[in-house]
Amino acid sequence: MSASNYSLINNQTGNKLDLASVQGTLGPVGLDVSKLYGQAGVFTYDPGFASTCSTQSAITYIDGDKGVLLYRGYPVAQLAEKCSFIEVAHLILNGELPNTAELQAFDQTIRKHTMINESLMSFFNGFRYDAHPMAMLTGVVGSLSAFYHDPNATKDEEYRKVFAHRMIAKIPTIAAATFKRHMGQPVMYPKNSLDYCSNLLHMMFAVPAEDYEVNPVAARALDVLFTLHADHEQNASTSTVRMAGSTGTNPYAAIAAGIAALWGPLHGGANEAVLKMLDEIGDVKNVRGFMDKVKDKESGVRLMGFGHRVYKNFDPRATIIREECYKVLKALNVNDPKLELAIRLEEIALSDDYFKQRKLYPNVDFYSGIIYKALGIPVSMFTPMFAVARTVGWVAHWMEMTADPSLRIARPRQVYTGADTRNVVDLAQR
Ligand code: CMC
Repeated sequence: MSASNYSLINNQTGNKLDLASVQGTLGPVGLDVSKLYGQAGVFTYDPGFASTCSTQSAITYIDGDKGVLLYRGYPVAQLAEKCSFIEVAHLILNGELPNTAELQAFDQTIRKHTMINESLMSFFNGFRYDAHPMAMLTGVVGSLSAFYHDPNATKDEEYRKVFAHRMIAKIPTIAAATFKRHMGQPVMYPKNSLDYCSNLLHMMFAVPAEDYEVNPVAARALDVLFTLHADHEQNASTSTVRMAGSTGTNPYAAIAAGIAALWGPLHGGANEAVLKMLDEIGDVKNVRGFMDKVKDKESGVRLMGFGHRVYKNFDPRATIIREECYKVLKALNVNDPKLELAIRLEEIALSDDYFKQRKLYPNVDFYSGIIYKALGIPVSMFTPMFAVARTVGWVAHWMEMTADPSLRIARPRQVYTGADTRNVVDLAQR
């Protein structure tokens, strides 16, 4: 923390308050307003937190104007091209890319934790056949807290490590089980001889009656998609995990809170919403009419998979995913008219003043659904796939936060707009 060039001046009294600043490695300076209320008796007001840093973090860096995304300093495009998801998970969690021995040890540790308690498996039978997989995922991950609960354990470094490994290892098992419940098929147990993404595909698509071989094209596509989704600094779900975690709650419960936040269509639920939107549009000839609705504020229709709070330039993940989309569809010999529809929507949006003026570009969710669909993953499973990948980020942020000795409970303030103080009138007189 250092003195900065910024001061707040009360225009009525002339009183001046110098603000200290927090400078990170990259990106804009943060003004420290934590003492503002104590010193000046005022709050800051920032609905949606567009200009507010809630923490210092060394995990992920985004430059939204330049379209830059770095995990621990590495550009995401390089990681997607050169690394497996499990290498990226090691990087995000531990700060460094693993060498061969470290990777093997980390991978083995994750494989060791893939099973879930058999009683937890039976929870799936309690859901209605048509339960949304995200509803089941939220509930079952929250229930992990009933199996692993020691109120003092979060202070223990070893416990925190085991939590991280367990959570990353078990989330594909739980996500796949929600899919099986949805399909009315028997749950497949993990097969620990398989790598992380192949194991997930096995648990989703294998059935006990038949042999199943994982398609390496599908496993590699998941590796890339999961790498791109693994972390995104203080987004809504990660902030939720941090907010819940700051109270000292059970960490599995904090992750469940993050999953609930991810589900919304403005966040991780957008990949599902994009496919539904493409279904509704139906044909390239309807694109113009749909775009007119999007631009009409009265309609309440948004172009799903477009726009981002932070990126005011191309979302670097969208560029990689679009390329991957072509590759995967070609390799799997899939001809999906939805891709043509998506490309046409993108072309029109990018040349339209409405989108140009507001700096709205395709985001990570615009093309990811088309890849998932080509892999045979149904639309309702798109957001759970995102949740599997983002678990790494949530866990890393929870670890970073919990290890920080200066951690305080997250407790924002408000500008109160309700009734002024008044007295309760006796019931008979009301
Ligand atoms: N379609 C049409 N108009 C849009 C869109 C869109 N997708 N996104 C933003 N706008 C307009 C919005 O109406 C507003 O216009 P005006 O200034 O005239 O009122 C302007 O652009 C700024 O939008 P905003 O809602 O203030 O921006 P925000 O930063 O609060 O919201 C967002 C960001 C991602 C929620 C929003 O762009 C959106 O709803 N996009 C569609 C949903 C989506 O794809 N979400 C996935 C985000 S990336 C993955 C993730 O985070 O999980």
